Amino acid sequence: MKKVKIGTLNDFPQGKVRIIRVESVMVVINHTENGFCAVENRCPHLGFPIGLGQVEGNLITCPFHGSKFDMCTGENLDWVTSLAGAKLPSWTRRMLMMGKQPTPIQTFEVTQEGDSLYLTL
Ligand code: FES
Repeated sequence: MKKVKIGTLNDFPQGKVRIIRVESVMVVINHTENGFCAVENRCPHLGFPIGLGQVEGNLITCPFHGSKFDMCTGENLDWVTSLAGAKLPSWTRRMLMMGKQPTPIQTFEVTQEGDSLYLTL
């Protein structure tokens, strides 16, 4: 485990989502009403950049196939439901899942010390 400084509170205003590189890892950071949540910018379905998706509160939706995750816990809340925003029938969903089972997304802890923010890799 390694703690890396990612900036200050001013760099991450509440209600904003930012994608940053922390060492070799791309991370999506969400400053929610309840604190910071961070996930790897890599959807566990096919590895596409989930940070391009929509974020509402703690919920992030992959823009590629609609999988949904809680950004604070990493929990998968829905798995492969659409293609580029269009809902899919179940047989197409199964095909697009490509044998992959619902999987949580990698989360990271963000801690605050004074005005500084750190992410634990
Ligand atoms: S790449 Fe995210 S749901 Fe397929």
